[in-house]
Amino acid sequence: MTTLLTPQKAEKYQVDISIKQSINGMIDDLMASLPNPNHLTSSERRGMIARYTAVLEGNFIYWMTAALLSVQSEEARPILLDNLHEEIRDAHPAMLRRFAIAAHAFPTDTDALAIHEDLTNVRLFLGKLSGVQSVLTMAFFEGFIQRFMGYLADLAKAQGSTEMEYTDVHGVCDIEHTEGLFRALAVEMEINPLDSKQDLFEGVYLLRALVVNIVFNRTATRAA
Ligand SMILES: [Fe+2]
Repeated sequence: MTTLLTPQKAEKYQVDISIKQSINGMIDDLMASLPNPNHLTSSERRGMIARYTAVLEGNFIYWMTAALLSVQSEEARPILLDNLHEEIRDAHPAMLRRFAIAAHAFPTDTDALAIHEDLTNVRLFLGKLSGVQSVLTMAFFEGFIQRFMGYLADLAKAQGSTEMEYTDVHGVCDIEHTEGLFRALAVEMEINPLDSKQDLFEGVYLLRALVVNIVFNRTATRAA
């Protein structure tokens, strides 16, 4: 079931600035923690691209769809649909696969298993179809991806690749998408507010753990 706000009413809803600041702060911290690509070995650079690809190629559209299924506000839907439309029309998973192959970083079973646990946690969380939490999780994801693109391109360049369509496209378009998701969040918070006992950032924390694993490969750290 969906609920509709009048355009005038929808317009006035803005996400609390403190929520945006928390998300941006988490992204700033992640960016500040990234190791210098030139200080990494070729195998470490390859692994980071491969784990990123293992997460994003098969899951981004799935998770944006989960957010779409979870919202009750009619105004949030076009924003999520617009995002999905672009992903599918321009075949972003194909673009990412080309990027990974060109950097000699196509994921192996080891790469896929390295992120298995954290990936499963995000999948199960989004399966709860909690509107506000899911949209906030995707806003964090889009915001992070956009900021991470320059770094991902540097990793690929250091691996000798010149195939940069994926990083070029996502460094630009996701700025709009992140803003759109914050608008969707504001409306959803009005129509379908989160139970006060639940943590607004539950999904964001799970996704952040997955991103940290993409960067630092905690499975390797634990095994060492
Ligand atoms: Fe994309």
